[in-house]
Parts: sequence; structure tokens; C-alpha cells
Amino acid sequence: MRNPVYYEDVSPGHGTLQPRSWTAGSDARRLDLSGEWDFRLSPTARPDDEAFTEDGFDPAAAPGWRSVRVPGHWVLQGHGEPAYTNTRYPFPVDPPRVPDENPTGDHRHVFDLPADWPGDGEVVLRFEGVESCARVWLNGRVLGDFQGSRLPHEFAVGGLLRPHGNVLAVRVHQWSAGSYLEDQDMWWLPGIFREVTLQHRPEGALDDFWVHAGYDHTDGSGLLRVDCPQRARLTVPELGVDLASGEDLRLPVEPWTAETPRLYDAVLSTGSEAVSLRIGFRTVTVEDGVLRVNGGRVLFRGVNRHEFHPETGRTVDAETMRRDLVLMKRHNINAVRTSHYPPHPAFLDLCDELGLWVIDECDLETHGFTHVDWRGNPVDDERWTPALVDRARRMVERDKNHPSIVVWSLGNECGSGKGLGEMARWIRDRDPSRPLHYENDPDYPDSDLHSMMYARQSKVDEIGRAGATRKPFILCEYAHAMGNGPGGLTEYQRLFEKYEHCQGGFVWEWTDHGLPRRTADGRDFFAYGGDFGEPVHDGNFVCDGLVFPDRTPSPGLVEYKKVVEPVRITGDGTARTVRVRNLHDFADLSALALEWSYEVEGEPLGGGRLPLPHVPAGGHADLELPAPPRTDVAGEAQWTVRAVLAGDTAWAPEGHCVAWAQLPAVPAAPTTAPASGAQVAPRRDGSSLTLGPASFDAVTGALTRLGAVPVEGLRLDVWRAPTDNDEGAPWKPGSGPGTAWRRLGLHRMRHRVDAVECDDAGLTVRTRVAPAASDLALRAVYRWTATDELLRLDVSVDPEGTWEVPLPRLGVRLALPGAYDRVRWFGGGPGEAYPDTRAASLVGRWEESVDGLQTPYVRPQENGARADVRWARLTDAAGGGLRVAAGTAYFWLTARRWTSEHLDAAAHTTDLVPDDRVYVNLDHGQHGIGSASCGPGVLQRHKLMVSTARFGFTFSAVAGDEG
Ligand code: GAL
Repeated sequence: MRNPVYYEDVSPGHGTLQPRSWTAGSDARRLDLSGEWDFRLSPTARPDDEAFTEDGFDPAAAPGWRSVRVPGHWVLQGHGEPAYTNTRYPFPVDPPRVPDENPTGDHRHVFDLPADWPGDGEVVLRFEGVESCARVWLNGRVLGDFQGSRLPHEFAVGGLLRPHGNVLAVRVHQWSAGSYLEDQDMWWLPGIFREVTLQHRPEGALDDFWVHAGYDHTDGSGLLRVDCPQRARLTVPELGVDLASGEDLRLPVEPWTAETPRLYDAVLSTGSEAVSLRIGFRTVTVEDGVLRVNGGRVLFRGVNRHEFHPETGRTVDAETMRRDLVLMKRHNINAVRTSHYPPHPAFLDLCDELGLWVIDECDLETHGFTHVDWRGNPVDDERWTPALVDRARRMVERDKNHPSIVVWSLGNECGSGKGLGEMARWIRDRDPSRPLHYENDPDYPDSDLHSMMYARQSKVDEIGRAGATRKPFILCEYAHAMGNGPGGLTEYQRLFEKYEHCQGGFVWEWTDHGLPRRTADGRDFFAYGGDFGEPVHDGNFVCDGLVFPDRTPSPGLVEYKKVVEPVRITGDGTARTVRVRNLHDFADLSALALEWSYEVEGEPLGGGRLPLPHVPAGGHADLELPAPPRTDVAGEAQWTVRAVLAGDTAWAPEGHCVAWAQLPAVPAAPTTAPASGAQVAPRRDGSSLTLGPASFDAVTGALTRLGAVPVEGLRLDVWRAPTDNDEGAPWKPGSGPGTAWRRLGLHRMRHRVDAVECDDAGLTVRTRVAPAASDLALRAVYRWTATDELLRLDVSVDPEGTWEVPLPRLGVRLALPGAYDRVRWFGGGPGEAYPDTRAASLVGRWEESVDGLQTPYVRPQENGARADVRWARLTDAAGGGLRVAAGTAYFWLTARRWTSEHLDAAAHTTDLVPDDRVYVNLDHGQHGIGSASCGPGVLQRHKLMVSTARFGFTFSAVAGDEG
């Protein structure tokens, strides 16, 4: 057996120091080595060429040397390309060997010590994150090598430093033995992607410390102790605490929770080093199968968060971290699983500060072994155990002082094996104060939680009904937020609220990982897997977040916010009663104010505040709405009641809406067909027919004009550009309905006009709409009637044959000239909604351009429908156009500058090129969205099954001066 080279060595590395706590607040000197470094990319590991590590080496005079920004990934800086795979290793599975094609980045940085750099003590060179393996030299001497990309590694370098011209050389290999442990579903992005610092360790410095700050909810006391290898004192001025290390103290405190992130400033000092800290008192327990913090049951309204920035990959700046958390807090998210590796440590400081429950997950995933029947899985091969335990240690030691971290996670999708058991043993021994997580069966010994991913709602219900066992139940991943969706969130949330031991879940995932690119003609889009010539890739599966790559919230996030709102408002708008339920786990409602408004036909007529009494967590208050404002305006009326922030918080200003509800007060008047007396008869005029404000082709029965507006192609439409969830999971063909839709040919329906019949009361067009090669059909009859002003369409649809697949949509589509691109509507908005993603759809009057109605999913797909539309107007710049009002049932409105077929054919947003029309879909029904791109499909009640349908619309012309 040959001796392995270090990058193919299963050991965690050589020459590094013991891991210790993150100490951002230390007063010891540090030197940030970030900046432009000399850089050379080689296609192979180049063990024979180490000249660049030497003092006299001159990159400017050597071939191939350029520069790279540290921290950063070289593939995002013009050296090589990024690559995306989900589970497949993009190299042969032959652990721990890696291919000869092993992109290797030689980094070289020359630095001086500041003039006042202390001469005593030790100095450590610290790497916060390097992917995937590094060998390090300082001033020509090799320090060692390490693996474990998203974990810190330190070397003692004091004896090697000189005041000027220190030469730091780092050779980074994209592939190493460690790559087998890092098969997370994300871009492969090599490089020194987190900071490199030099840290002075004065004589008598704190080698490590652990502040234990528990909370006894039975008497409101905090339990404080700090452990460190040195003698040190902890002072907490606000509490009057001055405590020696190793001593216990019990004192009254306010507890830390994600809802009330109370932190106390403290200083831990040895005399030669002082570290500023922020202490949060809290105690995590699992009692009777329920996860509790400070005695209270917690409900995770969580997300999985990868570290991602569209420009810089996993190099995430502080501002982006804060922005992510602020956005989460504003959307009622209270928990983060750091999928699937420890984040930048500063992110955890922010979680402490802003208040998020954190599951800190180790940098570990071996999912690619599933493609070889798990043969050779490192977590079940003891040669790898030291590396696994090393990863667990580096995470726990670095992050142990964060109150926000309530659970440790071993990693993700590694199957099972003894190595995980060793990690679990080490973590439990080191930190008995936090439960351990790993997704597996309920009786899996190496997890204190029963954790599943993508279980369907009925499974959660079953687990709920079975009653609490030893382990709290969570969904570490659910609701796959890929493209349009996820659907079905409401149904999950009700189950989490119903069963105490079903403690919520973490939506997969926070952000789309699209990389910005530009077309040859200068248009910007987000690229995904396969756009970089990768021979093995998983396409747009890397874009499955609640926010777009630039952090614009997607409709899925808006929906999630509504579904998980921590205050539930219900009531009876006619009786003017409101119930406000406090769904927080800890906080009362004193941070909130309650506002009402009263709207008639969607126009607010008045508003005010409702006094909100003290409502403890879990409690409720019954309130009365005032008398509605007097009005002469008749029509549908409703109350909108909002719980808003009563004052500024660290994450949102006063007035930010946390929760809302709409309570109908006066129902809409039923719409009826134009009164028969006023009805007009069709008039034949050559090849055309006139009916009220409309013209038709007398032969085909097609509507050609309404008032001044030319109309084209109004007919039944059942097709939508399949969403990622319609398409289903790539590894489970047929898991979404998209495959069946295409197989049946719903994207190429044929329309046959069987009869165009005129009578005194109107026009009837009988058609048969059907796919090729099938005898299934929809008989569609369009019945047109009119008054002088109004044109009424009644559509009846009767299926022929046995339809086994649901329809994507059912309604009519028409095309208008492109100038009619302004939309006003009364109905659900402002954003899109589908049958199972409609919780956040707020009934009101909305206005938007056709372009503004589009949701720019990274891979184009069906989007933009507005729910419950009572009426809509599409007008041009002069205000002229048409109005369409609902018949007996509200409709779904979609308008875009391209057809569904065009949308379906597009791979990137830049493939969508407007033509000179606006295509309008008026839908009676839409199929739900579900989560089948990775999880369960659409619930039965949200499926659009084929059956007889009757629906209608009333059209009228809008004159330009009506505005
Ligand atoms: C899970 C996995 C995640 C991600 C997700 C699909 O199985 O843990 O990392 O791949 O599926 O997007």
C-alpha cells in the first residue's frame, strides 16, 4: 500500500491546533489577511512544484500567475468554472482517491506585521473556511494540511513570523478525501472562501472558554458558570456579576428566547486577554417527547439556509447575513437549520442578537454513495471516523457559546453507520445540554429528535395521532420551494399546531443559488447547473429557495409568512367580533398593535386601532369591531384586521405587519346575466357578426373585437407551462403530473368548431377540444349574449371519456394588442396565488403592469395568477381597453406578453421575448402546486380533476377618458 498523499488521506489533517471557541470579541491583536493574493490555477495537484512557497519566488516573473480575492472562490473570479450536482459526485467514486484532474489553486500572500505587533506570546494563523483541502507554508516552512471546508483550522506560527515580508503560501485542491464527506446539494466552489487571520495569543490568553448560561423557568433564575483552562473572571455589569471561572452562580435574569432575544453584555478576562461576549440565558430540554426551551414547547417555523451570495458564492459578507436574517424575521420565520455545514460564525452572533432558533449542522454529507448502493460509505468505514469526529469537534468547539443554537446536527444524508455513532458519542459527552439531530427512523440511536424530510401531511398527521414518544418530531426539510410554490403549507402548519410533539419544520430552502450571467446581447439572467459546460449536473435543482438569488422574496416566502404568522385573527365581520390568538411560544402581544380598516368594493373607507389587552403566549382575546363607517357606496364590504409592530425592532420598523385577516361584512351581490329586456340580438354584417359591443367572425364564431379593442383567439385553454413541482422529482419520473400532461398532449390541444348558431338572444359556438392520438375530449360550448354595453360569455365544458389526469388549468385565453398592458383588478393580490398557495392573497384593489405581474422564476414556468378576481381592466396608456367581470364564480387572472407554450419552452428568463400581444387567461380552475419537485404532490382537494364545468364572464369596453 502506498502512503496516501495528504489530499487523499482520510485523516483530518496534520499540524493544526486543537479547536476552540470563536472569539470575535477578543481584545488580542489580530491581522486580517484578506485582499488580493497572487494566484495560479493548475489542472492537477502539482506535488512536484513547490517553488512558490519560497521567499525568493516572484509570481510576476513566473508563468500562469494572476491574482485572486481572498476570501473568495477562484471559479467565481474567472479562473475555471463552477459546477453543480445534487447527489452525484462529479468524479469517480473510489474513496479516498480523487482524479488526476484536480484543479489546484496556489495562493501566495506577502505581508508585514504592523509596527506595534506584540512580541510576546504565540501567534496563530487561522483559516475560517477553505474548500476542500489546503497545505500551508509560512516563510518557506510547511505548517501542515487540513480538510473540512466549512470549519476553522489554526496553526501556531509565532516562531516563524518576521516583521516584514512574511510569505504565506496556501495550496488548495478542489478535490480531496474530504470531498467524499462534502456532497451537499450545491455548487462545487473551491477556494479560500472565508477569512484568513493572524491572531496574537498573549501569554496567559484564553485558550478556550465555555459560558454555560441556563435558565430555570420555575423560579426565573439564571444559572451561570464559565469553564476555561485558565483562571479567568466573568463580569456582567448589568447584573452586577463578577464571577471566577469554574464557579456557579444563580441569579434572577430575563431569559433568552428566539422571540425575546435578551442578551447581556459580558467580559471574560484572564488579565492578559479580555473577550467581550453576549450571554443569553436559556435551557433546552426534551421532556416527555417534547422539545422545550425554558420549559416552554417551541414550534419551529424554520428554513434551511445554505451560505450563498450570487456574486461571491459561499463567501457571504456581514451585510448579506444580516439581510437574510432581517428578511426571515420579517416573514415570521423563527428557526434556521444551517444546511448542511456550520455557517460563518458571525451569522450565529446575528442569530443570537435578532432571535432565531438554530440547528447547527456539521459539515457532512455522503449522499453520492447512494449511487453505488452505499458501498464504501465513509460513515460506515472506521478509517474515516477520526475525520468525522474531528468535524464534530470543530463545529461544537467553535459554536458552543451561542444561545441561539438549541440543537446540534450530525450532518445530512449520510445513510447510517458507526462513524455517526462516534460523532454522537463525542458530542453528547462534550455537550449534554443540547439535543442531537440526525434525520432517520424514530428509534435511530444517534438522534434525540425524530426527524424526517418531505413527509406528506398525512404522515405528519399519523405521527401526531400516534401520540408523543420519547422523541419530538420535526421535518428537517419539507415544502420544496423550487420555482412556483411550495404548495400545501397551511395543511402542515395546522398539524404542527395540533400535535404538541410535532414541532414544526424547515422549508427547503432559503435561497435560489442562481449565478448571474449575461447573454451575448447584454441581458442579465441567473444561470444554473449545466450552464457551465458541466458533463454531470442537476440543472435548476439548485434554484429552490424562498428568495431569488438577489434576495427578492418569492411568492413562496410571502405565503410562508402568512401561514406561520404567530398571531391568528379570526372573527365574524357581520357580527363585528374578532378573536386574536397568540401563537407565540413565549412572548405576549405587547409588541403589537391591532389595526382595522373597512373596505367597500375594495376601497378603504376608514380605519383605526383596536385596543389590545394583555394576551400571554398561547392565550387569546375577544374584541369587538367598531360600527362600520357610514357610506352611500353599495357593494361587497369587508374588514381587514392587522397585527402590526407597535414600535421599531432590530428587524423591522413600527407598523410592520405581522399577521392579518379579512372578515367579510357584506357579501358581494350575485351577478346575473344581462336582463333579458335589455338584451340585444346579433346582427350579421357581411362576414362578421355584431353582438352588443362586440364583433365576431360569422363563420368561426370567434370574437374579434370588443369596443375599440381587437381581440384574438378567445377559446378554451387547459395548458400551463409546468412548474418545477408539476414536473416532479428528476429521480422519481411521474411524481408530478407534468409527464402525464405531456404524454396526453395537453400542451397541443386541437380545437374543432362544430357549430356557430345565431338566435335572437345571442350566439352559440359549439366546439370539441381534444389532444391528438386520444379519444378523450372536452366539449366546450361558448354562449354569447349582450346588451348594448355588456358582452356576456357563458362557457360550458363537458368531458368525453375517462380522464385520469387532472387539468393544469381550465378557462379561456385571449390575446390583446400589446398596448393593453396596464392591469387593475379587484380580487386577490398583490402577488400570485394558486389553489394551495393562496393564504397570502389579500382581497383588494390592485394595479400592476403586465410586466409587473410576472414572477421571474429562475427557470421560467407558470406564474403570476391572481386569485378570486371579481373584475379586472386591461387598458392602454390612454386608459382605454376592456373590463372583464366574474360570472357566478370569481376567476383566476393571468396576463403576460408571451404564451404558455413560449413560457414552457424557455430555459432562462432571457428566453422570454415579448411579442406584440398581451395574452390573458381567465381561469375557472387551476391545479394546485404541491411540492413534488422533491416532496409530496398536490393534495386531493387542490387537484383540478376533470368534470362538467360551467363558468362565465362579462366583458365591456373601457373608454380612454374613464381612467
Ligand atoms: C434533500 C437534501 C437537500 C436538498 C433537497 C432537495 O434531500 O437534504 O440538501 O438536496 O433534498 O433540494
